[in-house]
Amino acid sequence: MFIYIFITFEGNKIFKMDKLKSYINQHKDRFINELIELLKIPSISADSAFSQDVVNTAEAIKISLQKAGCDLVEICDTPGYPIVYGEKIIDEKLPTVLVYGHYDVQPPDPLDLWDSPPFEPVIKKTEIHPEGAIFARGSCDDKGQMYMHVKALEYMTANNELPCNVKFMIEGEEEVGSVSLSWFVKHNQEKLSNDVILISDTGMISNTQPSITTGLRGLSYVEVEVTGPNRDLHSGLYGGAVANPINILAKMISSLLNDNNHITIPGFYDKVEELSTEERAEMAKAPFSLEAYKKALDIESVYGEKGYTTNERNSIRPTLDVNGIWGGYTGEGAKTVIASKATAKISMRLVPNQDWHEITELFKSHFESIAPKGVKVKVTPHHGGQGYVTPIDSIGYKAANKAYTETFGIESIPQRSGGSIPIVALFEEELKSKTILMGFGLDSDAIHSPNEHFGIFNYLKGIETIPLFYQYFTELKMNQ
Ligand code: BES
Ligand code: MN
Ligand code: MN
Repeated sequence: MFIYIFITFEGNKIFKMDKLKSYINQHKDRFINELIELLKIPSISADSAFSQDVVNTAEAIKISLQKAGCDLVEICDTPGYPIVYGEKIIDEKLPTVLVYGHYDVQPPDPLDLWDSPPFEPVIKKTEIHPEGAIFARGSCDDKGQMYMHVKALEYMTANNELPCNVKFMIEGEEEVGSVSLSWFVKHNQEKLSNDVILISDTGMISNTQPSITTGLRGLSYVEVEVTGPNRDLHSGLYGGAVANPINILAKMISSLLNDNNHITIPGFYDKVEELSTEERAEMAKAPFSLEAYKKALDIESVYGEKGYTTNERNSIRPTLDVNGIWGGYTGEGAKTVIASKATAKISMRLVPNQDWHEITELFKSHFESIAPKGVKVKVTPHHGGQGYVTPIDSIGYKAANKAYTETFGIESIPQRSGGSIPIVALFEEELKSKTILMGFGLDSDAIHSPNEHFGIFNYLKGIETIPLFYQYFTELKMNQ
């Protein structure tokens, strides 16, 4: 009797898995082509010249969600770009998964560094993606990863395999700070109620070692402006006698990090969560080759905060980096001039317990205090957000781990990421639910860089893994 139940249960599982795999296999060309169509629309949220394209992308997502089986799909207007909301509620008593993703993309420049135009997707094989990868802006971040969820829903509804309720919330302002979404989430708690939030907008270690992201860094992004004389001056007539804003800005910025690459802003580290020796040892078990890392970036040596490994520096430690700096004459040839102004954009990646508003204030007062008398300094805060860490004993994490283990044939491992998705901390605060970050991108996929791409293997594996998450999450939740 027991043996019989076991066999039918296991048999059913294998049958289901085959059905899922064969559906993907049968429809994979269409899945790829649909994504390619979506990638052709230049939905660059940062550049208002593309605003119609951003809006058109929302419309395309709406149609795809309707086709995939949502019962209700709405375009929710906001003061900024629209949020696409979709749902399929099969039974109020069953758990609800809320899928979040973004349809906006980063600006593609510098354009001349792309091997093919950013909005004319092409499939090419690479060393890391021998089965081919789609090259286009947004292929990995986040249209490709978001669309895996649409196709997973298509599979589940077409085959009567949807085990729970599902809600989709896809925004168009993630790359510019999710301002409208913050407002939307605060005012739609009932509509967005859920048991778990599922996001594919991060990465994993490699195609043979899946990982689940358990942490995101926070962010404080500021712009600083140093003003010297009231006009640009002849650098011979005035040079040496007045403060040169560009020299001063460079000096001020370099003083923000000491010789150990420790940030010198007073109070900056006060709330930083320090990991225990055990936690650090656990982290160090993740497969990582420093040689391969250096080779991929064509650098002779890594560089960073003393006392920490590369993987710690880019995940559990805070940072301060200049993202852009300009002033004076940057055209062809030489012009002898002392500029009146110099400007820089600075990002600080933050770790759990550091509050981004507080850090922004600390930065501002410190930066103003180190300015010499001959210049005026203005600090303008841009966007920011809190970091996030998620436990690995939640049922959401367990369900995700089971799903990865089954589709990759190897257990996934937890990994803290260095990137930021500021809205995740707000989700927890407003919607009181945990987020599971099931990313399928690779660091080498060049998100935000020229030649961004997303592996076909990764895209299809994502579509295969997501329905299993739904199934395991529902089982675990119902047995809780
Ligand atoms: N998807 C990324 C964040 C990411 C990528 C996290 C890979 C972990 C691994 C997201 O679209 C992004 O780029 N976020 C921005 C912050 C945002 C406020 C502009 C970032 O991290 O710079
Ligand atoms: Mn993203
Ligand atoms: Mn991004």
